[in-house]
Amino acid sequence: MSDPPKKTFVITRFDPDVDEVPKTQSYEIAVDPDWKVLDAVNYIKDEVDGTLSHRWSCRMAVCGSCGMMVNGEPRLTCKDSVSQYGDTVEITPLSNFPVIRDLVVEMDGFMDKFKKVKPWIIRAKELAAEDGPVRQSPEELEEFKQFSMCINCMLCYSACPVVSNEPEFLGPAAIALGHRYNVDSRDEGASERNAIFRGEGTVFSCSFANECSEVCPKNVDPAAAVNQAKFNAVIDWATGLVLPSGEKE
Ligand code: FES
Repeated sequence: MSDPPKKTFVITRFDPDVDEVPKTQSYEIAVDPDWKVLDAVNYIKDEVDGTLSHRWSCRMAVCGSCGMMVNGEPRLTCKDSVSQYGDTVEITPLSNFPVIRDLVVEMDGFMDKFKKVKPWIIRAKELAAEDGPVRQSPEELEEFKQFSMCINCMLCYSACPVVSNEPEFLGPAAIALGHRYNVDSRDEGASERNAIFRGEGTVFSCSFANECSEVCPKNVDPAAAVNQAKFNAVIDWATGLVLPSGEKE
């Protein structure tokens, strides 16, 4: 039987207690062709170097925690096969995030941006439980379903060239999430969110590079959400000019 193929993983290491700047460390290991990239990183952590730090949880492209740059691209490492890469695989922490240690990034700023778009159902008047459920047609569900498939893996944010130049930019994930609620037929908070979207560092900062949609492992298409959000924010503003206060949806 032939020996299993070997690959060299060049991984960014950074220990804030010791290092002033990140450095790289190479690990040559035998890989099972059926492995995902995450399996290789887990093998290195478990069998070669227990000091390596990275995040993962579900190993089935659901939790969104295993995002890393693989050969310069933001990837979900439990989804990518090692076989799709060559003999040398470079793994670095996600771009556009501060690094806590090795491949672990600080998520607080990213999560704070979610809160800014009010990602919950807003009702002018709360319904009582005895009023029963608010029903939706399949067509109404279809309006937002795609945008609700986001797993918060941060790949789109990491790929976004606007975030890297303008760190205050809300970013594709937060805008797609706000848009998801704006087009939900149960929600009545679109005007509040559209006012947020018309502010600085939001939808109009997007240059439509489309990188976010290209890296999304769930085909959410955040670039489409940003574009639709731009259009809706303008329509909402124009409607406010011609309709007296109180007549707006
Ligand atoms: S480990 Fe959960 S998405 Fe990869």
